[in-house]
Amino acid sequence: MASHVIFYLSALLILTAAATTMGSSSSLSPYYYDRVCPEALPAIKRLIEAAVYREPRMGASLLRLHFHDCFVNGCDASVLLDPSPTIDSEKNALANINSARGFEVIDEIKQEVDKVCGRPVVSCADILAVAARDSVVALGGPTWKVLLGRRDSTTASRAKANADIPSPFMDLPALIKNFKNQGLDERDLVALSGGHTIGFAQCFVFRDRIYNETNIDPKFAKARRSTCPRTGSDSNLSPLDPTPAHFDTAYFTNLKMKKGLLHSDQQLFNGGTTDAIVKTYSSNAKAFSADFARSMVKMGNIKPITGKQGEIRFNCRKVNY
Ligand code: HEM
Repeated sequence: MASHVIFYLSALLILTAAATTMGSSSSLSPYYYDRVCPEALPAIKRLIEAAVYREPRMGASLLRLHFHDCFVNGCDASVLLDPSPTIDSEKNALANINSARGFEVIDEIKQEVDKVCGRPVVSCADILAVAARDSVVALGGPTWKVLLGRRDSTTASRAKANADIPSPFMDLPALIKNFKNQGLDERDLVALSGGHTIGFAQCFVFRDRIYNETNIDPKFAKARRSTCPRTGSDSNLSPLDPTPAHFDTAYFTNLKMKKGLLHSDQQLFNGGTTDAIVKTYSSNAKAFSADFARSMVKMGNIKPITGKQGEIRFNCRKVNY
């Protein structure tokens, strides 16, 4: 009898341990809001479509915001918190300052979602994840089921944002390590970098590449130099690929032609271990779409706050109390 009890108790222990180590991502679900607020997801989609119609680049900016949220302490909307006496805002981190954008659209969505739901039940972190997906779809990219049920952080960390968001000056081994620290592998790195099939970059992040690097198409470098002089015009924009408002495979065909805009982009096709993946995506749009969708779900699962932890913010820019 005693042995039976011990057997059941240890089985229970093992199950509990397994559930804990599976991590909180297993508690996210695509159906999370189906009962509490079925109107939430259609409202987000409507507002994203309107925002991307007004300005296609907004889709790119919102995709990037979700990435910059997830890479700093998980997808917890920490990137949305404004500076305050208790918040050292991630908006002031190197990768975000004068660069991250789209915060007004997130505010607009949050207000509308709280209105259609009748109360604040949808987290800012989930809004970011759905906004990223709907942005990609609005620009012609693949769709996927966004896992939901993340809660919002009550803290932010500029220091962690500086340490954990990858820099465009990194070489391949550093990029691989940076993604590995987030539980993402080389395939995720290449697929997610495919996010650069949409949007723009400022002159100061690619100046060194177009003036000093040798693994670059000379005509491409010359063309980019016309709007990015050696000094000044730091914030002049260039498209990250030739079709910045279309989610396609041009980013990868460009890398094969040494026309990557950022140093970090070209690192993915520079004789290293990721060359083969770039080749595959450049000639197989279906493979890229499927892998991008899969990697976005994986990125969205980075350390979500669930259960009784965190909060559902009333205003995405501020903690509740
Ligand atoms: C692999 C490491 C990455 C590095 C080093 C990197 C770096 C950058 C830089 C420097 C910019 C230009 C910012 C500016 O000039 O203001 C940029 C833009 C962008 N990034 Fe990345 N990025 C990386 C990965 C990603 C990932 C994983 C995604 C999304 C899945 C992403 C999505 C974007 C988008 C959409 C833009 C354009 C934003 C806009 O036009 O507003 N990036 N990235």
